[in-house]
Amino acid sequence: MSETSFVEQTKTFFQELDVPMVQKPLVFDSLSSTNAKAKELAQQGAQEGTVILSRTQEQGRGRFDRTWTSPEGGIYFSIILRPTCKPEQATLLTFVGALAVWKTIDDFCDLAPSIKWPNDVRIRDKKVSGVLLESESDSAGMKYVVLGIGINLNMDIDVLSKSFHATSLSYELGINLDYYRFLKEVLTNLHSYYAHFTLGDHAWLLQEWKLHSDTFGKKVRVESSAKTIEGIASDVDESGFLLVTTKTGEVKKVTSGDCIYFG
Ligand code: BTN
Repeated sequence: MSETSFVEQTKTFFQELDVPMVQKPLVFDSLSSTNAKAKELAQQGAQEGTVILSRTQEQGRGRFDRTWTSPEGGIYFSIILRPTCKPEQATLLTFVGALAVWKTIDDFCDLAPSIKWPNDVRIRDKKVSGVLLESESDSAGMKYVVLGIGINLNMDIDVLSKSFHATSLSYELGINLDYYRFLKEVLTNLHSYYAHFTLGDHAWLLQEWKLHSDTFGKKVRVESSAKTIEGIASDVDESGFLLVTTKTGEVKKVTSGDCIYFG
């Protein structure tokens, strides 16, 4: 697809889109990272619901400074949110993003997607989507949250990052999916899960996330820069932090890290 046609077609898509959460879409043919751009705009005061979407990203960012390979055919966008919540509650927005993608895949295709703590949407144990939450807060609460979503929609798997055990929906299905139909569903689902969040329906969101996660009961190793914790993933707390029961029976809370299934 040519540069102009993607940008023009996507602007038309947004003009016709009726998802109240999406207030001000900005569309690019190529960006370094939609999250980086969204952060810049959020710091300049951009309103809640500003969406930055790009056809490709040159330096797509994953968690823990990884690269999110972002060739043509994938969905890459970030949305600026200004929730009135405590910083520890904002972590649940990762679940909001993962659930929106999970539900869209589940509605579109018979692929039994699942969610690995905290934000990987996977098909047959391979990652098809990730969510990157970046935020700023002060003593008064959250200043902004940038929720970035990357989905490997229509692409060969050999172009995908080797640092993730990755797949794409088109590879798993053997056909390409309609970019705009899929994007519309993701944004619609995001709107609906975010509405639960803003209404304070956090227990419901956690339940919903638990229902679709395959992490519980798994033997996990969670690696962060500070430490590595091993044990059985037993639950998540009200902020979405993972509770791991170690072999001594102690329950440890993991606030962030890379979760690996083993054993
Ligand atoms: C992860 O699982 O590590 C998170 C991946 C998040 C990728 C998306 S693509 C759109 C947005 N812009 C970025 O630079 N990253 C996120």
